[in-house]
Amino acid sequence: MDASEREFDVIVWGATGFTGRLVAEYLLGRYGVGGELRWAMAGRNSEKLAAVRADLGRDAGKDVDALPILTGDSADQGSLEALAAKTRVVCTTVGPYATYGSGLVEACAKLGTDYCDLAGEVQWMRRMIDAHEATATASGARIVHACGFDSIPSDLGTFFLQREMRARHGTPARHVKLRVKASQGGASGGTIASMLHMLDEVEKDPSIRGILADPYALNPADRRSGPDRNEALAPTKDDDFDGWVGMFVMAGINTRVVRRSNVLLGDLYGADFRYDEAILTGGGPLGYAKALGLGAGTGGVMALMSVGPIRRGLSRFLPKPGEGPSKAQREAGFFDLEFHGEHPDDRGKSLRARVTGDRDPGYGSTSKMLAEAAVCLAKDEPATGGGFWTPASAMSDALITRLVERAGLTFTIEGE
Ligand SMILES: NC(=O)c1ccc[n+]([C@@H]2O[C@H](COP(=O)([O-])OP(=O)(O)OC[C@H]3O[C@@H](n4cnc5c(N)ncnc54)[C@H](OP(=O)(O)O)[C@@H]3O)[C@@H](O)[C@H]2O)c1
Repeated sequence: MDASEREFDVIVWGATGFTGRLVAEYLLGRYGVGGELRWAMAGRNSEKLAAVRADLGRDAGKDVDALPILTGDSADQGSLEALAAKTRVVCTTVGPYATYGSGLVEACAKLGTDYCDLAGEVQWMRRMIDAHEATATASGARIVHACGFDSIPSDLGTFFLQREMRARHGTPARHVKLRVKASQGGASGGTIASMLHMLDEVEKDPSIRGILADPYALNPADRRSGPDRNEALAPTKDDDFDGWVGMFVMAGINTRVVRRSNVLLGDLYGADFRYDEAILTGGGPLGYAKALGLGAGTGGVMALMSVGPIRRGLSRFLPKPGEGPSKAQREAGFFDLEFHGEHPDDRGKSLRARVTGDRDPGYGSTSKMLAEAAVCLAKDEPATGGGFWTPASAMSDALITRLVERAGLTFTIEGE
């Protein structure tokens, strides 16, 4: 059956989890039940799904009895294929993806079903691309990883800035820098489980360290080198921002996605494009000390957590799967990112863009971004064919428009 004739537009896989529930809450609030978007909640436990559905209905003051519930299990490939065959798009929050996600990618690639997720596990995304790209290309399935805070603001922010550079100056910026000006949020048990799982994988297979340290790890095989280097832990003086910058822990994912976008977009940002991300810590000795602290903190935590027994011991005190920041914390959260695009010949023509979000980055904003990415794949008919895409290369302007109109994000050029 043609994917456009399927029963559902979007299935939310993992709707009982911390983030999946927020995705379902958003879809219910925005699109309702029985309206223009045909969507369903799915998970492994029908009673838990029914309880979540009832909670969401009560909180929203909506009748949710007609909202379909579907079940399956990530360990049962037949159930994943049955799910994928029913819908145009699966959006999944069942993670750690490296533990529970591979079968669903395989099923979607096989059945020509579009797919989006919140994966930040670069080594797993690399494995999925290598294993299923040919199948997805043949079936027409558009597979899009990293549709949350990792890496939509980075990816679409860079796309937005480069489009403006081209429109105004006829050339892309040679070097784009993302600087985190401010953000507020917390981490969920599921995110922590994914990070711990990644360290487990590295312990079992040290070659994964090489993938994680490769700035071009997600690029096609013939484009796996370039001018960028892996992120440094040491503070750097950034004259464009008149201060010090320090390690941004998400840069190891986002930069790989943005560099892949450039290749998939046909070098829209230039063949020698450079991209990096860091946190702005301010000027003077205090700015330096903060940047030093970020690098030392990240390096120290990673070194400590790399030791298996310490990692397993400390993980008992961290949030468990299903737990995460409260509603009040999510609503008080936000993010504010600045992009600097350097004109190749004339610094006076360099351009600044800003991307902001109105909820905590990891969950409040992420759930809206993932939901709108899924609706965009289902409803906006992106021109891309099957294969493994990035948010910018698959959905570009259509998704920016959705995020601005519906999901509380802003994309602006500074000074306007
Ligand atoms: N990139 C980003 O910006 C970003 C932001 C937030 C989260 N994330 C990622 O999103 C993922 C989910 O995070 P979370 O905090 O929402 O996790 P969570 O609360 O632990 O939810 C995990 C979900 O997976 C389901 N699940 C577990 N094992 C399963 C199986 N065998 N078959 C089917 N379903 C299964 C759970 O079902 P039950 O309810 O039945 O246990 C639950 O619905 C993590 O990988 C996290 O790293 C990424």
